[in-house]
Amino acid sequence: MPLDKSVVIRPARNILGSLRVPGDKSISHRYAMLAALAGGRSRFENYAPGADCASTLGCVRDLGCHIARDEKGAVIIGGLGPCLQPPQAALDCGNSGSTMRMFSGILAAQPFVSELIGDQSLSRRPMRRIIDPLTQMGAVIHACEDHAPLRIQGAKLHGMDYRPPVASAQVKTAVLFAGLLAEGTTTVEEPARTRDHGELALRAFGAEVERTRTGVRIDGGQTLRPLEAYIPGDISSAAFFLCAASIFPESNLVIDGVLLNPTRSALLDVLTAMGSRISMVRVEESHGELVGTLTLAPGQGRHVVIEGALTALLIDELPVLAAIAPFTAAGVEVRDAGELRVKESDRLSAVTRNLQAMGAAVEQSDDGWRIPGRQQLHAGEIESYHDHRIAMAFAVAALRADGETLIRNAECVAISYPGFFDDLEKLVER
Ligand code: S3P
Repeated sequence: MPLDKSVVIRPARNILGSLRVPGDKSISHRYAMLAALAGGRSRFENYAPGADCASTLGCVRDLGCHIARDEKGAVIIGGLGPCLQPPQAALDCGNSGSTMRMFSGILAAQPFVSELIGDQSLSRRPMRRIIDPLTQMGAVIHACEDHAPLRIQGAKLHGMDYRPPVASAQVKTAVLFAGLLAEGTTTVEEPARTRDHGELALRAFGAEVERTRTGVRIDGGQTLRPLEAYIPGDISSAAFFLCAASIFPESNLVIDGVLLNPTRSALLDVLTAMGSRISMVRVEESHGELVGTLTLAPGQGRHVVIEGALTALLIDELPVLAAIAPFTAAGVEVRDAGELRVKESDRLSAVTRNLQAMGAAVEQSDDGWRIPGRQQLHAGEIESYHDHRIAMAFAVAALRADGETLIRNAECVAISYPGFFDDLEKLVER
């Protein structure tokens, strides 16, 4: 990745046109990991193109699986079944929390020692949340207190009932993956509902996973079969364009082939409350996931409060919602979002600082913001804090600033969306 690439965003008049966004990151990670555990050849079209999902593929390869691309660019993975091969060196998860946390669930059950490392940002992120349950299931994990590098001594795991202290789909998935490879039954009771791609992916690969009223249950020892799939467009990437379109009165945006899983689409309800008219057409199911076409036309709506269970469902979309909040008719309030402090950057502070750099009024609390509507933002210098979602969120805000905005360290968009700035330019009318 090039170092310190700044990008200049000029103000826009409108967002117009149609687009397909890259494959969903959460699903790509899970499909690649489960493909490693399925004996035989899996094939994925539209696998997420960002560096994070490449980190997962790198780990899958280092654990002995053959990886190739076919003439259509689809990823082919030769799975080994439940027993992977010991890696020759540390497994590099790069910037990807999903890779480190979810792979830990698989490595905890392997008959060898593995080490997981990450970049500076990932090495600061909390890992106790997966160390505790996987240790209780029988693995031995050494960390630097709460942090990577992780050294995982795999073991014969036993199933358990687990209630994670934080609502986290990564933790739920790590425990379910460990549960698949464990003896007995594992349940995860979630404090708040999180994205269910782990459960759906396990089913797509042939495992039985039961949804209980507040949790999920899996029996260990099930065999996975390989999967061929087209991965739906990432709604968390589409979010940047949907939010951009919502702040220009004359916009009209169509996004094709996008993931519409109800545990990921809460953004659509929020944008609707903010006044946008959104329709979903051509909705289909693909391996348990809903996919369809979205259209958005903006309008004026009401004040929005995001809190509790809704915050957990919107966790990746909060930076861009906050970045457009000053342009809404009635402002936005976010509560219960303390988890934002331990993402790729401290997203609570990053958003506040960047809004302030653009002259916006914003009140930050311990776990959220209050951002009044009807504000004018000034062009300025934005810092990405090497966080892809912060760079993209403020590229969107910059479209309505009063001049050119410089986004520093913008190369980090490649973590989830290498073509982001090109796609944004295609939709912007000046
Ligand atoms: C993800 C879960 C969320 C999200 C991350 C992807 C996943 O993290 O922020 O971008 O794919 O399960 P947490 O599990 O830490 O909430």
